[in-house]
Amino acid sequence: MSAPNSDYDPVQVTPLDADQVAAMVSDALAAFAAARDLDALKEARLAHTGDRSPLALANREIGALPPQARKEAGQRVGTARRDVATALAERQAVLEAERDERVLVEEAVDVTLPWDRAPRGARHPLTTIQERVADVFVAMGWEVAEGPEVEAEWLNFDALNIGPDHPARTMQDTFFVESEDSGLVLRTHTSPVQARSMLSRTPPIYVICPGRTFRTDELDATHTPVFSQVEGLAIDEGLTMAHLKGTLDHFASSMFGDGITTRLRPSYFPFTEPSAEMDLQCFVCRGASVGDPDHPCRTCGSEGWIEWGGCGMVNPRVLVACGIDPERYTGFAFGMGLERTLMFRHGVEDMHDMVEGDVRFAAAFGMEI
Ligand code: PHE
Repeated sequence: MSAPNSDYDPVQVTPLDADQVAAMVSDALAAFAAARDLDALKEARLAHTGDRSPLALANREIGALPPQARKEAGQRVGTARRDVATALAERQAVLEAERDERVLVEEAVDVTLPWDRAPRGARHPLTTIQERVADVFVAMGWEVAEGPEVEAEWLNFDALNIGPDHPARTMQDTFFVESEDSGLVLRTHTSPVQARSMLSRTPPIYVICPGRTFRTDELDATHTPVFSQVEGLAIDEGLTMAHLKGTLDHFASSMFGDGITTRLRPSYFPFTEPSAEMDLQCFVCRGASVGDPDHPCRTCGSEGWIEWGGCGMVNPRVLVACGIDPERYTGFAFGMGLERTLMFRHGVEDMHDMVEGDVRFAAAFGMEI
């Protein structure tokens, strides 16, 4: 800052000279006008209104003037600074408006663009039906048990009273792992989980086991080499066929709705004695096609009934093989096909739809969690 002038001569204080001040203003206005965007304007603002700008420096010189000269110089510089500030604010407003307009254009969202370029997947209905089945039994206090898909031949067959010469063991039905004498198979049913559950638990045992199973079937509308079953096993004192029937009826109405009619039809499984097939009354003709050749039913073949799965009282030989005293405990077991359950429940007509993995099939079932 200059020292006070001893002889007053405003011309000597160049920054306060009217021409100089006018030049500072016009420089500032020119710089603001030249600023093409807000960043450039910020630079111009610092240069022309900042602490080290010519006008700020001129302002400081005022204090050094003799009192008589201060008023005029003060007015001049004050007016100049106001003009600059006004011009700055105007330019600022113009550039901000431009920026806002540009942002609106650049960041606009075109709501007419397709939104499903990364479509959501869907859970497979077989998965959800497995969970639904498990829920029905968990609600009754049963446990969910699991077993491996590559299973010991002994657990898949021998422990279940399926002897070495049983036809189900032949190459025609069973996928053997590596060689036929490896002792390993892809499990042909979920029943080995019965054996595993009995070997690893002490009665009372109530387990449900949904899982994948394998047989050497060709894929067609009603068969698939990879399919799913749900196995149930109950071992307790005093269990009878009536408990089995009551449990399966509850299971059936949980899956297909109240009022579904079921029947047990005598059958044979090596691991249950007595054994039965559980049939559901045909959900299409409700039995009306039986003996009515004019109205045949394709779904049940005019039988009136469709098979849902096998069941029976656990064979005492199986209890013994799995370390359970058949004098004290009895048990029942059942195994239902989950694909069949899905077919009956949702009218799925072709097995291909279930295995081909087209998400449109799964999506039609909704996002059941
Ligand atoms: N495991 C039998 C099957 O795959 C079904 C079944 C399970 C039968 C339990 C009786 C008891 O056909």
